[in-house]
Formats: sequence, C-alpha cells, structure tokens
Amino acid sequence: MGVERKVVVSEMTSAEREAVIALWVRCGLTRPWNDPEADMALAEATENATILVARDGENLVGAAMTGHDGHRGALYYLGVDPANRRGGVGRALVHAAEAWCRTHGAPKLNLLVRMENQAVLAFYEALGYLPTNSISLYRTLDPERAERERAEKAAWAAAHI
Ligand SMILES: CC(C)(COP(=O)(O)OP(=O)(O)OC[C@H]1O[C@@H](n2cnc3c(N)ncnc32)[C@H](O)[C@@H]1OP(=O)(O)O)[C@@H](O)C(=O)NCCC(=O)NCCS
Repeated sequence: MGVERKVVVSEMTSAEREAVIALWVRCGLTRPWNDPEADMALAEATENATILVARDGENLVGAAMTGHDGHRGALYYLGVDPANRRGGVGRALVHAAEAWCRTHGAPKLNLLVRMENQAVLAFYEALGYLPTNSISLYRTLDPERAERERAEKAAWAAAHI
C-alpha cells in the first residue's frame, strides 16, 4: 500500500517532541497516571532507550518508544495516526524497534497490552509475537504517587471500562 512504500523510520528529533505526544494522545495511549513528557525525557536521558518516529514525507504518522534494561528489550507507546493505519506503518515501527534492540544486544522484545486493548493482539500476532506464560507485576515506588495512581486508575476505570 502507499503508506508502506513511503514510510521512513528514524530516531525522534527534539523538534518533534510535542507532535509525538499529541500523536500518542490521539492514539489513546496516554493515561492520567502516566506523564508522557516525563517518560519521553527519561528515554532521551539514557543510552538505553530511544523514541522512533515514522514519517510519510513531512508528516509524522507513527511513533514508538523502545529500550532495554540490560537483559530484555521493551516496546512502549506504539501508535500510528488513525488516518494512516493498515498501511504497514506499525509493522515498520516494530521492525525498527527490533533492529534497535538487536543492535544494543537485547535478544528479546517484550511489550504490555492493556486488558482493555485486546483488539491489538491480532496485530502483534501477525508480527510473530506470542503471549508470555507469565503475569506482569509492578509496584509504584513513591508511596504518594502510588496513592495518587490508585485514585486515578479507579476514576478512569469507572469512566471507561
Ligand atoms: C496497533 C497499531 C500500531 C497498528 O498499526 P498499523 O500501521 O495499522 O499496522 P500495520 O498496517 O503495520 O499492520 C500489520 C499487520 O497487522 C495486522 N493488523 C493490524 N491492525 C489490525 C487490526 N485492527 N485487526 C486485525 N489485524 C490487524 C494485519 O495482519 C496487518 O497486515 P495487513 O494490513 O497486510 O493485513 C495501530 O492500530 C494503533 O496505533 N493502534 C492504537 C494504539 C495501540 O493500541 N498501540 C499498541 C499498544 S500495545
């Protein structure tokens, strides 16, 4: 398809920060308890992570964050502009993230799919991704932030799920 032919993926420039965050919002990837600007700043501050953008000519049509923790690669904030979907942009971004992880020595790429976003599983399956035989756990390390997140998550679930 046309988009697949023209799309170019490379690392985000600082001039693209706001456009990338706006794209993530348009793609429904942000939540009140996460701060995409802070997440982006953390990725920019380390050699272990990067933000990739897909451009179709002058247009920013997709973005993703990838990185590794010294053992596994990870993929976050993968989003393709709604008007540019089903043209291979998502696949191109995942392949670019895989290439970045391989180059940085990470042999596997992990990602999280929110329970309410299971429609995306067909996309990952098409790209060869398998469910893990594990349960993902987390802990918010700052107690004040943990408390805030609990309230924000409850409010969000009441409004959306
Ligand atoms: C998931 C997402 C990134 C896919 O991007 P995309 O550019 O549309 O995907 P591609 O065109 O590269 O799709 C590659 C293949 O995945 C499969 N696929 C993609 N979207 C699909 C869908 N909605 N249903 C079924 N299969 C799908 C198809 O096999 C497709 O190949 P085909 O079009 O030749 O049949 C995009 O839909 C998106 O931004 N969604 C919202 C954000 C999101 O959920 N991100 C993931 C968070 S975990």
